[in-house]
Amino acid sequence: MKNTILAFLLVITTVRADEGMWLPQLINALNYADMKKNGFKLSAEQIYSINKSSMKDAVVQFGGGCTAELISGEGLILTNHHCGFSSIAALSSVANDYLKYGYWAMNRGEELRCENLTVMFINRIEDVTSRVTGSLKPAFSELQRDSAIKAIIKVIENEAKKDGYDAFIRPFFYGNEYYLFVTETFKDIRLVGAPPESIGKFGDETDNWVWPRHNADFSMFRIYADKNNKPADYSKDNVPYKPRYFFPISLKGYEKGDFTMVYGFPGRTTEYLSSNAVDLIMNQQDPVRVRLRGKRLAILEEDMKKNDTIRLMYTSRYAGIANYYKKWDGEMKGLRKFDAVNKKKAFEQGLLELLKNDPAKTAKCNTLLNAFKKNYAEYAPLSKQYDYYTECLMGIDGLRHAAGYTNIFAELKKKQAGKENKFDKLLEDMKKVVPFKNMNPPTDKKLCEAMLSVYVTDIEKENRPAYLDSLLGAYGNDTRRLAEFLYSNSNFNDNRKAKAMLADFEKSAVLYERDPFYQLALSVNKYYQTAILPQLQYLDLQINDLQKEYVQLLRETYKTKKFYPDANSTLRVAYGKVEDYKPRDGVSYGYYTTIDGLVDKNATGVEDYYVKPRLLELYSQSDFGPYVDKKGKLRIAFIASNHTTGGNSGSPVLNAKGELIGTNFDRNWEGTMSDIMYNVNQCRNIVLDVRFTLWIVDKYAGAGHLLKEMKLIK
Ligand code: ARG
Ligand code: GLU
Repeated sequence: MKNTILAFLLVITTVRADEGMWLPQLINALNYADMKKNGFKLSAEQIYSINKSSMKDAVVQFGGGCTAELISGEGLILTNHHCGFSSIAALSSVANDYLKYGYWAMNRGEELRCENLTVMFINRIEDVTSRVTGSLKPAFSELQRDSAIKAIIKVIENEAKKDGYDAFIRPFFYGNEYYLFVTETFKDIRLVGAPPESIGKFGDETDNWVWPRHNADFSMFRIYADKNNKPADYSKDNVPYKPRYFFPISLKGYEKGDFTMVYGFPGRTTEYLSSNAVDLIMNQQDPVRVRLRGKRLAILEEDMKKNDTIRLMYTSRYAGIANYYKKWDGEMKGLRKFDAVNKKKAFEQGLLELLKNDPAKTAKCNTLLNAFKKNYAEYAPLSKQYDYYTECLMGIDGLRHAAGYTNIFAELKKKQAGKENKFDKLLEDMKKVVPFKNMNPPTDKKLCEAMLSVYVTDIEKENRPAYLDSLLGAYGNDTRRLAEFLYSNSNFNDNRKAKAMLADFEKSAVLYERDPFYQLALSVNKYYQTAILPQLQYLDLQINDLQKEYVQLLRETYKTKKFYPDANSTLRVAYGKVEDYKPRDGVSYGYYTTIDGLVDKNATGVEDYYVKPRLLELYSQSDFGPYVDKKGKLRIAFIASNHTTGGNSGSPVLNAKGELIGTNFDRNWEGTMSDIMYNVNQCRNIVLDVRFTLWIVDKYAGAGHLLKEMKLIK
């Protein structure tokens, strides 16, 4: 044990710079010296400044969940193809399938309006910790504290919301600090261009989360503003937005060891968990979720292979389920290989060792560690139950759809009681959409049978919703027959029946309400929302309070270590190096890929590696223009040791001079554990080389006119 502790103390004092997602306004105070030592050539003020234009003015949150960067003085932005996917899909039809064939606006007039797409700029960030926590009294109960914090946050946010700016406050370090973000959101965003899916999604599920990679995961949009350069609803009179800053693009490339940074909006990480929490994730949550999703995916895949109609119905959902299935699987395996639980335990021992001459702090640390243990022991069974609700029962479309009718029945009851209600409007709206457009009843019946069958084996009788348990009992746990019964006696899983039902809904509602699928949905939702969810939320709050004290203790104890707050969808800077890795014993991966590899993958004939003949033609002509590296190779992607997570997709990846060298789009499978524990030997972000992006725009798409508005560094 002694040795492990010593080893750990060494680790914590010598952590490499690569780990961390830093707040841009604190770079000067915390990271600048280190960044310079690692090669960064600009000033901290060029990263973030309130008064002058800086890089932060060229980074936007895209569509709420991704990042994009400004690459011209005329509002042109670059993000991932998978980030623009839903907007491109919404603009597509069978006649104009922009997913399949790609799209390029050859002039401004051809740029396509994307409804509901917004981008958000950060105008400034302010530390409001003392205002938020200053008036809290020690005597406050947890609840009083919570509501006092909420109230003051509202006040501060409202003060900041003026001159067209919006504002929000987020807690950092579990509520030890609070920051205010003043933002500006643009609502007129237009599609400029996207490559065909065969390029943007090349490798699809086969390559997702995997290095080496060969897809050009990018798309381009333009921000439009009113005449005063301010956000405005769509109007044909709007003009391209003039940004305060945009990134110059380097055609000079990078080599192994070069400094690189990522500027974007990482979503969520949890790096300061206790050993019990990591144990729960690694040994329960990840395995349960992976197993349940694996079963669903196998059934979907089998049916999607049968014909194109079914394939199209499920393709987008399949991708969604598969994405985190694969991520959790990689995370679980990475954590196990890293011996994560024991590393956390050793860390906790090391902490106690450091505190041993301070009885008060030792006592506090022990109290916290014991409380974690107790809370997680209570949390684990509830979390399992909740996962079986969301990933198993709600994986049955029929059940989810039936649950969606709760509201209309409730509104009808109000109408019948002569109360104010929204029934007529709701019914009208429901009649407009094809209820089960993306569901094939026979496929869903199979899912139903399979999900109920794992449920019955894994969830004890006393932990089941009453009606579900009685149905299972009535069918002697024969889930095939039960699924048969549900599907042949319900109106909630078939378009034809649902249409007829909506046509005379008001008259026959009493009958429809008795529908077994609907009754099942009611019983399931009621059970989880009353017996499980409130307890889980309560424990979440408790654990959050413990984490708050624990992180504070860590920061007081490891005084010389720099701490970064967990990701929470706010603007962050990560920096590291262009760097290769060894995924396992005896195997090394290079740090970049080229178009040769794409062509090799294509030659395997695997469906995910299909490309259109045009790409192969350009390849055979070696028409690579100025986009090649020093050896004349056209690179596609590279990896680096920047600490990133979901939400960083589309983020600008910059060199030491702040020039754009690529767009972030994924992480390596062996490194997906970085959301919980970052391991510099295994964790890499995956970046699309901007030279490949430009090659596609220029040579493949013939949209070279766009390059004229960019600032290219040759
Ligand atoms: N793994 C990447 C991310 O987490 C890409 C996801 C989209 N691609 C896909 N094949 N599902 O968002
Ligand atoms: N593809 C992810 C995203 O959409 C980025 C990958 C990651 O989780 O790092 O944000």
